[in-house]
Amino acid sequence: MNPAITWCIADSAPLRERLTQLALPATLFADHWQSGAEPAESVQAVLEWQDDHIQLRPLAKELGNPIAVDFLHGKTGFRAQRFAHEMIVKAVAGRSREPLTVVDATAGLGRDGFLLAAAGFSVTLMERHPAIATLLADGLYRAAQDADMAPVCARLRLQVGASHDLLQQIPPAQRPDVIYLDPMFPERQKTALVKKEMRIFRDVVGEDDDATALLEMALQRAHKRVVVKRPRKADTIGSRKPGHQLTGTSSRFDVYTTG
Ligand SMILES: C[S@@+](CC[C@H](N)C(=O)[O-])C[C@H]1O[C@@H](n2cnc3c(N)ncnc32)[C@H](O)[C@@H]1O
Repeated sequence: MNPAITWCIADSAPLRERLTQLALPATLFADHWQSGAEPAESVQAVLEWQDDHIQLRPLAKELGNPIAVDFLHGKTGFRAQRFAHEMIVKAVAGRSREPLTVVDATAGLGRDGFLLAAAGFSVTLMERHPAIATLLADGLYRAAQDADMAPVCARLRLQVGASHDLLQQIPPAQRPDVIYLDPMFPERQKTALVKKEMRIFRDVVGEDDDATALLEMALQRAHKRVVVKRPRKADTIGSRKPGHQLTGTSSRFDVYTTG
């Protein structure tokens, strides 16, 4: 992880209450609470309470719009989608008909992971950035209150930490069928520049310059396959060649068979 910007947490009673409900480890935030009435000059984004949710708000306009995780409404709302036809679902499922277990080891804002859970897979989300993991946990918490989304949320669990470590801790008998990776790469960041709402995400996460090592670890831990999402024309991660590729209009899925 090569984070580009600094962030802090604006204290408030509803935010504290939600963090308690989310049961995230307090150590995640220990160094991030805002100390004075205003954020320190070095701080470029604030994690805060807004209406009924947690958001990450950039302090400068050029860093884009605030981001939050919302699985219920808008573009990322999941009600109307036909999951079986999504390329990501085809890449992860392969020829399997049975419901597979999946680790999404680069969970981010959880769109891919949620889609996989909506398609019927049991998904463990792993995210190492504390602010992003908090947004994701908050989005999952709100989705779980919705009668339609609750069954999907029941197939999802979030682990906060570095996937290299978390994957290593999984006992052999509980290894997932599939490990899914969607690391933040420099060439992807240029594409993200056009999307105003994603600028702060890209800037707070930085580049995932350890993705090759994560792929190697994933290949040792997945029962059936590892699926890596890449921009359509980007190189593969590292020098390994995937068994096959599924290519869409802007993304590509590199599939590495492991078992
Ligand atoms: C491009 S984003 C993933 C977006 C995600 N697929 C989605 O649909 O929202 C990459 C995310 O993976 C996380 N990440 C990258 N490497 C990781 C690792 N080794 N362990 C845990 N999280 C990681 C980054 O912090 C970032 O949030």
